[in-house]
Amino acid sequence: MKLLVTGGAGYIGSHTLQQVLAAGHEAWAYDNLGKGHRQAVPDGRLVEGDLHDTDHLTEVLRTYKINAVMHFAAFALVGESVEDPSIYYNNNVAGGISLANAMRRADVKRIVFSSTTATYGIPNRIPIDETEDQRPINPYGFSKFVFEKLLEDFAHAYGWGYAALRYFNAAGAAKDGSIGEDHTPESHLIPLVLQVALGQREKIYMFGDDYPTPDGTCIRDYVHVLDLASAHLLALEQLSDGTAIKVNLGTGRGQSVQEIVEACRRVTGHPIPCEVVARRAGDPPELIADANLAREVLGWEPEYTDIEEVIRTAWAWHQSHPNGYQ
Ligand SMILES: NC(=O)c1ccc[n+]([C@@H]2O[C@H](COP(=O)([O-])OP(=O)(O)OC[C@H]3O[C@@H](n4cnc5c(N)ncnc54)[C@H](O)[C@@H]3O)[C@@H](O)[C@H]2O)c1
Repeated sequence: MKLLVTGGAGYIGSHTLQQVLAAGHEAWAYDNLGKGHRQAVPDGRLVEGDLHDTDHLTEVLRTYKINAVMHFAAFALVGESVEDPSIYYNNNVAGGISLANAMRRADVKRIVFSSTTATYGIPNRIPIDETEDQRPINPYGFSKFVFEKLLEDFAHAYGWGYAALRYFNAAGAAKDGSIGEDHTPESHLIPLVLQVALGQREKIYMFGDDYPTPDGTCIRDYVHVLDLASAHLLALEQLSDGTAIKVNLGTGRGQSVQEIVEACRRVTGHPIPCEVVARRAGDPPELIADANLAREVLGWEPEYTDIEEVIRTAWAWHQSHPNGYQ
């Protein structure tokens, strides 16, 4: 197939682009490089452009004879979305609508969309399955929820086939260490802990140790970025007119902040000093996926189920690229 990967110069998009190309598809990243990295994209595979530029997107979809889109491009910082919701509605909702309009014009009807556990808000049950109500509690989660709804309506009205993949916490890096995670600012736990091990940060701040969890720190489900990439390929294969896939992508296992720090100590051999500070507003104690539907519907089986293995791939990337792509 011929694929356009929006946000293909970003963390998850670049790993997926590599896998899509290795699987024999033709694919191009479409990215404004606002947060992404030119070096994360193979030569000749980057189209620079912004989601809001509907005319340019339409032209690109037509010129490259694109059959399907993988849509990663978005802003994804929960705290920032609360402080400045306008940029989240503009980029994730208005930008998404611009993409959808370009796809309509170019008659592209297949899309795999990066959704998120943040669309669930505070879940009623753990592990979280797809019957859980989607009641996002911040503008980021809401912006993703809105685009899921758009896809639902477009599938119904225009026969689009789509998959909304609700990722839990992405982690890890490419097996060969060629690409990895480089966010500015970094807000994800594993790279922050590894930056302490590299001597780039003094210590890790743990936001609360009085949650109702075994060690008192928050529990999250860390899914390897290569497993997310393989789910995209599997989802793509399933899409036909009117297909609507909505599935969680996680390992079904949770790790507390404390457990992640301990696993990073074992992998890096660094003591990794920590300081417990106040809870952050809106952090649910526990987010763990029930990913059985992804197994059933996509035939997806995450390869990385051992957190130390996930961390080892991230550590290899951070050691070989201490300043990221710079
Ligand atoms: N990282 C996670 O743990 C996680 C979890 C759940 C969902 N997600 C979703 O996965 C997707 C990818 O996340 P990531 O961690 O790789 O983020 P990222 O910031 O590394 O990648 C996003 C990419 O999109 C590009 N982009 C953003 N706005 C654009 C625009 N208007 N026009 C063109 N390009 C634009 C950026 O330059 C960047 O390269 C996002 O949609 C995010 O919401 C991520």
